[in-house]
Amino acid sequence: MSGFRFFEYRSGSLHAEEVPLARIASEYGTPTYVYSRAALTAAWREFTQELEGRDALVCYAMKANSNLAVLDTFARLGAGFDIVSGGELKRVLAIGGAPGKVIFSGVGKTEADIALALAHGILCFNLESAPELDRVASVAAACGVVAPISIRVNPDVDAGTHPYISTGLKENKFGVDIPTAVELYRRAAGMPAVRIVGVDCHIGSQLIDPAPLYEAQDRMLALIDVLAGYGISISHLDLGGGLGIRYSDESAPDPAAYMREVLRRIGSRRLKLMFEPGRNLVGNAGVLLTRVEFVKTAPARNFTVVDAAMNDLLRPSLYSAHHEILPVRKLGGPALISDVVGPVCESGDFLGKGRSLSTAPGELLAVMSAGAYGMVMSSNYNTRPRAAEVMVDGDRCHLVREREKVEDLFALERIAC
Ligand code: LLP
Repeated sequence: MSGFRFFEYRSGSLHAEEVPLARIASEYGTPTYVYSRAALTAAWREFTQELEGRDALVCYAMKANSNLAVLDTFARLGAGFDIVSGGELKRVLAIGGAPGKVIFSGVGKTEADIALALAHGILCFNLESAPELDRVASVAAACGVVAPISIRVNPDVDAGTHPYISTGLKENKFGVDIPTAVELYRRAAGMPAVRIVGVDCHIGSQLIDPAPLYEAQDRMLALIDVLAGYGISISHLDLGGGLGIRYSDESAPDPAAYMREVLRRIGSRRLKLMFEPGRNLVGNAGVLLTRVEFVKTAPARNFTVVDAAMNDLLRPSLYSAHHEILPVRKLGGPALISDVVGPVCESGDFLGKGRSLSTAPGELLAVMSAGAYGMVMSSNYNTRPRAAEVMVDGDRCHLVREREKVEDLFALERIAC
């Protein structure tokens, strides 16, 4: 057992569902992201099971992993989508997803993106500032339509997570504080080109303790009551995403227990509930498969040099994030403590530090919990083609994104002459 459901050892060989990861490496090469469709489906069910029979919509925050095959899997399960750009909306359209289940988040929506979203009749714009409200109203008026809106409220609750992924504090760029939200709602109520439909908040990502999420929810419910006092009625409450997952030994919250507590706090209110989970649905449904190039030993430190790097998976370099690294084949020899590093020319290029591994050149390693904010944050730094992506479904594998070719990387460039 690896401790990761759907990625387990069978006879000493790590599998994704029924498929040996070694077979994927020999068919598609490395580095390759491998996703398990069963893991995506199980995560979706865990997140949504308590909402059965309720007026609720779970909009997958596709910034976490926007591969079309992942989106298609969730769309088939009934998901809506939380987008942050016109590009993400085009991905929803590309898989035949319903724009009527799309919500549009983000602090800097362009006029073109707003017009595109209006043309497709999305469910709601989550607005983050007064000028954004004005912009959406003026684009909607110019298009002769009415824009459905929520204000993203910053409830000033500390998510207790990494500063780069905490968004609900006063000093963050996201949302508006509660008194400003009240003002904006009152102003929006008088605008013919917008229709108030909801309130929204999202306080941060990778929350291991859900208490701040409940605190934010209570503040949103109090805001809804204040708005009612002004004759402004709210039909949905969007509680954002942020529920954490287990990367190593954290005790991650159980999504069903989280949902039960959310529902308990809603009580008998007649509110449609919306959520924007990203990581929780995909994080542990993917691994990054990589091959060992060299094992470099030195008196001060040892290095396992692999063919994946910070350009493929940025999270360790950017957030000092921990991802478990497992040998695909259990060799059983003596373990060496080393830093697992890529070939990129930066000291910050590492996937794991001080890891105890029994491996050798040519062997494969799996960087676990890489389904969220992995491929989507990858780059071509050092002119490295981005990894392939494979989705496993039972005993079958599908290549869901081809490996880039080096020529593709400079195909748009010209010599200045
Ligand atoms: N809704 C909004 C408005 C967001 O900004 C985010 C994430 C989500 C939903 C989804 O949050 P989740 O459920 O995935 O925690 N790259 C970082 C995470 C950045 C999160 C950005 N916003 C990482 O690798 O940890």
